[in-house]
Amino acid sequence: MKDTITVGLLGLGTVGSGVVKIIEKHQKKLQHQIGCPVKVGKVLVRDLAKKRDVNFDEAQLTDRVEDIIENDDIDVVIEVMGGVEQTRQWLLTALKNKKHIVTANKDLMAVYGPELLKVAADNGCDLYYEASVAGGIPIIRTLVDGLSSDRITKMMGIVNGTTNFILTKMTKESASYDAVLKEAQDLGYAEADPTSDVEGLDAARKMAILARLGFSMSIDLDDVDVCGISNVTLEDIQYSHKLGYTMKLIGMAEETNGKVAVSVQPTLLPHNHPLASVNDEYNAVYVYGKAVGETMFYGPGAGQLPTATSIVSDLVTVLKNMRLGVSGKGYVFEQFEKNLKSPEEIRSKYFLRLQVKDQSGVLAQITSVFAEYKASLEKILQLPCKDRGEGLAELIIVTHHTNKKDYDTIVKQLQKLDVVDTVVSSYRVEGEEK
Ligand code: NAP
Ligand code: HSE
Repeated sequence: MKDTITVGLLGLGTVGSGVVKIIEKHQKKLQHQIGCPVKVGKVLVRDLAKKRDVNFDEAQLTDRVEDIIENDDIDVVIEVMGGVEQTRQWLLTALKNKKHIVTANKDLMAVYGPELLKVAADNGCDLYYEASVAGGIPIIRTLVDGLSSDRITKMMGIVNGTTNFILTKMTKESASYDAVLKEAQDLGYAEADPTSDVEGLDAARKMAILARLGFSMSIDLDDVDVCGISNVTLEDIQYSHKLGYTMKLIGMAEETNGKVAVSVQPTLLPHNHPLASVNDEYNAVYVYGKAVGETMFYGPGAGQLPTATSIVSDLVTVLKNMRLGVSGKGYVFEQFEKNLKSPEEIRSKYFLRLQVKDQSGVLAQITSVFAEYKASLEKILQLPCKDRGEGLAELIIVTHHTNKKDYDTIVKQLQKLDVVDTVVSSYRVEGEEK
């Protein structure tokens, strides 16, 4: 083992600056744990002239990636830059040059995780990625180590800080979507392109990573059924709130009889559901194991220091492995081939908001469509249609558990009825009211 460990950083933005701060401020604790000092060597940035958030010797900054991934003095590469294709190539080169890797990059790990992990193992290198899911919550470590003896059957959670921040402000302050998104960007929660946050793709990437680990199955990003929050309106939030529900972007991964379904959708939860009170940029993940039962993990899902904490903890693990001489030996590859549930096997309750003609017989026509598919209804509420004037009524329906195939067909059938003016919105409903 060397006298000093040198890490190279790819990226010095929100998260990279946090890593530098933690390595500096917690240096004594790090030394105590790993037995030698840790220093930051070269740091890759795009713009050498940019003003930085951390005090840095300018000579350490570089815009040449070779200064890090081909530098013999660097033991560990911390990738906090983002991007997929080019980043994959650079990390493959780093691994072939026997550098251990710590990354926060879920875009990369959701798509190329299995390949990179294999190349890492083949080269006797570690690759850790705790910060890629749920920022400061050690959820990957929990699945890989803490619950490794159990059979996981369900994981459900809020895994995107930006959208949780937006939905919280829309619910509590009736704030406008655009204004709150801007605030989340200013606070450093959002991705460089926030489309992946608001369209649910960031959460889908995290759910693919969790499902792979939790079910030990080769789940791909394309296997995740994704819907984001960009079409969620203040009205939907307010109507559903009156009916006793809180809107959250929920990631769900469930296993039944060896078959798995993974999704990310805006979801209505009863106000008393534990995930309904997870607010702002906070994340929470429920994990159900056959033996352990129900567990829940809660904490900041985005932001500089929470994310950097996960990264530097991964770094400590890498350095402990180096000392023990077990680098690259910890990976357990997936046990099962992919086996996905069909839409007939995915069951849920649904909230459906319609604008319908305000005349007799309308309700009977609508309920007969549900009856045709043996889908029973838990709640029906009719309200005046505030924005569309006379002649229309707002109808809100909450179903009992129904399979996804039938529900999608019911919505299509309703759209064809003359008495239905508009299908305004539809959301999954999860959890029982107490
Ligand atoms: P960021 O603030 O945009 O920082 C990105 C950094 O990488 C910048 O320093 C940028 O250089 C550098 N960079 C980007 N592309 C580069 C390239 N092609 N060549 C050289 N340098 C390049 O991003 P961030 O919020 O820190 O996020 C970094 C990673 O962490 C992403 O993968 C993100 O998904 C993940 N993550 C973020 C959070 C969070 O809360 N922000 C939480 C968990 C995970 P310049 O400074 O010169 O522009
Ligand atoms: N943009 C991500 C979020 C960062 O808002 O959750 C953390 O992965």
